[in-house]
Amino acid sequence: MDYWSMKAALTWQLDMGADEAIADTPVDRFAASRKETEKLTPEAAPASAPPALDPVAVAAESAKGAADLEALKSAMEAYDLCELKRGAKQLVFSDGLPAARVMIVGEAPGRDEDLEGRPFVGRAGQFLDLMFSHVGLARTAPDAEKALYITNILPWRPPQNRDPRPEEIAMMKPFLARHIELANPDVLISMGNHACDALLGRKGITRLRGTWTAAMGIPVLPMFHPAYLLRNPAAKREAWADLLSLKAQLAEAGCAG
Ligand code: URA
Repeated sequence: MDYWSMKAALTWQLDMGADEAIADTPVDRFAASRKETEKLTPEAAPASAPPALDPVAVAAESAKGAADLEALKSAMEAYDLCELKRGAKQLVFSDGLPAARVMIVGEAPGRDEDLEGRPFVGRAGQFLDLMFSHVGLARTAPDAEKALYITNILPWRPPQNRDPRPEEIAMMKPFLARHIELANPDVLISMGNHACDALLGRKGITRLRGTWTAAMGIPVLPMFHPAYLLRNPAAKREAWADLLSLKAQLAEAGCAG
């Protein structure tokens, strides 16, 4: 096949929706690189392997140095210890108004978010927008009282949208904590089980949802994830109760809603 036929074949696959390149048989690239290292002569081989980096400590150091959201985004872009970065098209940092009184923390980007570079832009995101519009809140609102600020615990899409792994949550948590510190919202919404795990160290969204708690000194309302609500429409009743509770909390804290 010549270059142009191969390019046309690849373009056709993209048009058909292929977004992963997987070979028929697995390739163990670690084994291949180990073989290369073994081929080195004793003189050329390093005297001792460099000490392994602690991904959580590196993330904490990097996050601490970020003075504003722009710097935090750059620090996350430069962070190389999360494997998810290699499979993702881009970092998905946030959307909405950073000064918003309400900050939503979701799970991780999916396919649409990975392509667009913004959180919650797919089906679940459209439903999220609809839900919050009923209490007068929108990510596009220009003033802090009516606006939403949205991020995720993980900024890179996990392959095949699999669940985040505990070690991935642990290494990205210092960045999330700094993100919250810099945005300094009045309230946090933790969307679904994984966000509750990262923010509150607790799981069991069915039990947690609707009950206000706190993280980093900020009130947190755990809510069902919009993707869950799309699969379980009967739970929308509880989600509506949670939205009303959010509205009441904002009114009590002196914000419109
Ligand atoms: N689900 C999430 O939790 N976050 C997104 O950005 C998209 C879907």
